[in-house]
Amino acid sequence: MTEAEDSPKNRRERREIFTIEFQEGQDSESPGVSGTKHLFSRRASHQPEVKWTLQNAEQDDRFSTSKVQPPLFLQIIHISDTHFGPNRDHTIRGAAVANRVEMLVRSINELSFQPDFVIHTGDVVNAPDENAYRLAESVLSKLKAPVFYATGNHDDQSMMRAALTFGRHTPLLTESDEICYQIDHPDFDLFVMDGKVPEEEGPHGFLSEAQMEAVLDAVRPKTPVAVFLHFPLLNIASRWIDEHLPVKNGEAFHQILREKAGTNLRGVFTGHLHRGLQIYRDQVLYSGVSSPACEFTAGPDDDFCDFLPDCAVPFNHVTMTREATVVKSYALPFHGK
Ligand SMILES: [Fe+2]
Repeated sequence: MTEAEDSPKNRRERREIFTIEFQEGQDSESPGVSGTKHLFSRRASHQPEVKWTLQNAEQDDRFSTSKVQPPLFLQIIHISDTHFGPNRDHTIRGAAVANRVEMLVRSINELSFQPDFVIHTGDVVNAPDENAYRLAESVLSKLKAPVFYATGNHDDQSMMRAALTFGRHTPLLTESDEICYQIDHPDFDLFVMDGKVPEEEGPHGFLSEAQMEAVLDAVRPKTPVAVFLHFPLLNIASRWIDEHLPVKNGEAFHQILREKAGTNLRGVFTGHLHRGLQIYRDQVLYSGVSSPACEFTAGPDDDFCDFLPDCAVPFNHVTMTREATVVKSYALPFHGK
């Protein structure tokens, strides 16, 4: 701030931004008195780094009273890694998967609001099997909101397409097995990407150039953007996981996505790690949700992911606006078998 900008007149103007007029009886601290109440005026006059004036705030689209946009909210339920087996007897370390996911579905349907949609970030089944997908569809189709699916490393794309009911979407790749699409929405650019590699290559992910190009081409200016996929893009400071589970070219996609979407990027949402996860990197939010089937360990020096017994049944409620993302995590106790 220059000396001229910090003149007594300008300091007074900055203080005035933070004052309100009040009438007799309105101020509970001084009943019967009227005048001007200074809100934060001391802070404003002592902060040389204050840059916001009423004038430049009005020039900013977000604060301009003449360009105020109506509120924009999107309510999403994020679930992942249901690992259905071919029948209801299928268990993972003693956890009856179908019973747990049925409880998850009931809990989401009983929320006090109707989500815009549910996103399942992959590993719908434990191993590719038509019966497992039929069972998954019979349970997950009871969700009242539309459901969208991403491919997990345990999934099979053709079986997913045949068995699961997806919400309204637009495929981004026409000549590929990859399940990569844009969720149909007028005000948000929401992309589901497919990071599955052939099973023999391992449990990590990889994003094809065609997918990355298709997503980046579809990003509109001044539109909130979010990406959903199974595999985390970035390392999580856990040795074995970082070596084996993220997207191999995730770091590159992180960089180009944040360059393209800028501050419109509302987050990247993933599963795979069977645990709740938040990463904040380069002003980008990464949010992961755990599995209703089982939770994994993720110690900094672990040699492997181990199972944590008797895990809760988790889901995340994600709210997006033009400006922000809010994630509320649920971990519901499961009392059945
Ligand atoms: Fe999984």
